[in-house]
Amino acid sequence: MKEENLKRKHEIQRPEGKLGVLIPGIGGAVSTTLIAGTELVRRNLGEPIGSLTQLGTIRLGKRFEHRSPKIKEFVPLSNLEDIVFAGWDIYEANAYEASLYARVLNREHLDPIKDFLSGIKPMKAVFDRRFVRNLDGSYIKEGKSLRGQVDAVKEDIDVFRSRNGIERCVMVWCGSTEIYLEALEIYQSIETFYEALDQDDSRIPPSMIYAVAALESGIPFINGAPNLTVDVPAMIELAKEKGVPIAGKDFKTGQTLMKTILAPGLKARALGLEGWFSTNILGNRDGLVLDDKDSFKTKEESKLSVLEYILQPQLYPTLYKNYYHKVTINYYPPRGDNKEGWDCIDIYGWLGYPMQIKVDFLCRDSILAAPLILDLVLFMDLAQRVGMSGIQEWLSFYFKSPMHKEGLYPEHDLFIQSMKLKNTLRYLMGEDQITHFGLDYYMNDSPE
Ligand SMILES: NC(=O)c1ccc[n+]([C@@H]2O[C@H](COP(=O)([O-])OP(=O)(O)OC[C@H]3O[C@@H](n4cnc5c(N)ncnc54)[C@H](O)[C@@H]3O)[C@@H](O)[C@H]2O)c1
Repeated sequence: MKEENLKRKHEIQRPEGKLGVLIPGIGGAVSTTLIAGTELVRRNLGEPIGSLTQLGTIRLGKRFEHRSPKIKEFVPLSNLEDIVFAGWDIYEANAYEASLYARVLNREHLDPIKDFLSGIKPMKAVFDRRFVRNLDGSYIKEGKSLRGQVDAVKEDIDVFRSRNGIERCVMVWCGSTEIYLEALEIYQSIETFYEALDQDDSRIPPSMIYAVAALESGIPFINGAPNLTVDVPAMIELAKEKGVPIAGKDFKTGQTLMKTILAPGLKARALGLEGWFSTNILGNRDGLVLDDKDSFKTKEESKLSVLEYILQPQLYPTLYKNYYHKVTINYYPPRGDNKEGWDCIDIYGWLGYPMQIKVDFLCRDSILAAPLILDLVLFMDLAQRVGMSGIQEWLSFYFKSPMHKEGLYPEHDLFIQSMKLKNTLRYLMGEDQITHFGLDYYMNDSPE
């Protein structure tokens, strides 16, 4: 991505025409909450709470200028009216049936849009049970080679595009968390990856099949789960080669959101940390999948890394050298999608005196995730029109394990992430970056 190739301000193509949102895992709790919510907002039956693109503002210029437009009025983003949803699942249920199964939204929200939701039917999935062991749906593309599966997904996309008159697309993985995979040799370059694909290598998971289909079709790809998927050199190279943006991984919603709000505060005040114990009870299908230890390992890696990067123990040995960090998830069906995340945080202050913080977040996973996906889709479509290909680090704000360039460490601090995102928008629209320096307001004051 070369700076001179990026389009800025008025050069950015307007978001005209329909935007297709392609979702592997369209029958899941998160996807159906996103789809139903978008339709409710379109019909003025709900508010897009939690969405920066819909409700957020951005300060421009100096504080005395009082310029704070809404983000959606400042940057050219697609309108919600232009979004068309489609996707794949291993279960045949339409979006209405799947929403009822997910038990996130109640009938007061679902029934007024029953017709709309019933009309969204999944396409047959690319699925391999070795990568998601606790599910066994049968609505899948059978008997194809891996290349055959990529081509079948591409054909689904082409049919969807032409039937609906779609101008541009974005794909977002909202499928189940796949088992933990090491960064194997076959993922290290496009050549080794394509060779493995052509040989039907059993180490290529379905999420990568969808991703290849998207990238080869010139469609931006977002990874909402902690699976590697596009976070390997082969896919990063492919995205750059095709001039397509990619982003991931693992939506930052409940407990990790809280962690990346609290930890920067403790560090900013130079308070020490002795231990951080995080546990969750969760009863939805995601919880069932994460009950398998290899799927949980993928999630665990994602959840554990944030503190290490925020607290930087190598720079602050007195405060953070030996803290104990533990994360667990327990599948507990009665709670459904309404997760409970507990955090017991043991900190210490002046002269080492211990203190404790307890957080009990009674959250709703999909309610927190849906607005993130909407924002990501709209921003990734913007990135594509600007000509930003490869990793979109400026969207780290939305992820537990933000993808980043080799040699850089990921930025996890929510406030730095927010600044990074807004400064990118200012940059694209030719506005000054805001550093929050502030002393300039007081310098060269004329004497009273
Ligand atoms: N809700 C959150 O707060 C949150 C946060 C971060 C990440 N995530 C991740 O988002 C994903 C979706 O979460 P959810 O709560 O909706 O889970 P879910 O189990 O309700 O939905 C996942 C859907 O994916 C489908 N699926 C699985 N493999 C597939 C494949 N190969 N092709 C097509 N469909 C496939 C399943 O049938 C299911 O309908 C999970 O990976 C989860 O870990 C969720």
